[in-house]
Amino acid sequence: MKKNLVIAIDGYSSCGKSTVAKALAKHLNFIYIDSGAMYRAVTLFFINNKVDTAHDKQIAEALQQIELNFHARDYQSHITLNGKEVSDEIRLMPVSEKVSDVSALKLVRHEMVKQQQRMGTFKNIVMDGRDIGTAVFPDAPVKFFMTADPNIRAERRFRELENKRGNLVTLEEVFENLAHRDYADTTRKESPLTRAEDAIILDNTNLTEAEQLTFALDKVMPFLSALKDSLL
Ligand code: DC
Repeated sequence: MKKNLVIAIDGYSSCGKSTVAKALAKHLNFIYIDSGAMYRAVTLFFINNKVDTAHDKQIAEALQQIELNFHARDYQSHITLNGKEVSDEIRLMPVSEKVSDVSALKLVRHEMVKQQQRMGTFKNIVMDGRDIGTAVFPDAPVKFFMTADPNIRAERRFRELENKRGNLVTLEEVFENLAHRDYADTTRKESPLTRAEDAIILDNTNLTEAEQLTFALDKVMPFLSALKDSLL
């Protein structure tokens, strides 16, 4: 009998996955893991070290030199790349522009999925990403697939970037970047973004954060009760 619960949240870029995931983790006292941050941190390493993604040997060697760690503070996830906090840097455009290409690489996905599965073996976690319910934890008892209107998503990401230093992009550029990533994420060969058959759709175009949390908690509660019963 499994003694931990994994909640998988997948969906398009900037449709509020991390907001729901963090709120759920906080409410349930689970660990929140942002799998996208891992792909972003790998991308940052590849950029900084000029890794040629056409060469598997270079990719494999680079992956061996990367150590990623999460530090949870106030249910915000902070990620370090080889000991250095990179949580802000990985959100900026240079990484956003390259992350789809890097996250489509088989060797990269293989290593990230292995690390993600390890994180969810014994602990109660909420993990968000693109392939969590399909490839990382296909047996997760609770899966959500999130979606929202593309214009709303672009506006949300634009506002998020505006609040960070170093943002020199327009709303149109953000929209283009999202459209490009949607296309790349859903059409790539290695575990493309797709809804797991048993994932619950959560369209948050017109929902407040509180409404989304209520919706998600409602779906999670039966599994939480089952988990508590199994621990008695
Ligand atoms: O969630 P995000 O926008 O920070 O993710 C950044 C990129 O990483 C996104 O373009 C797709 C990729 N990604 C992925 O391929 N698989 C995941 N589980 C999470 C993210």
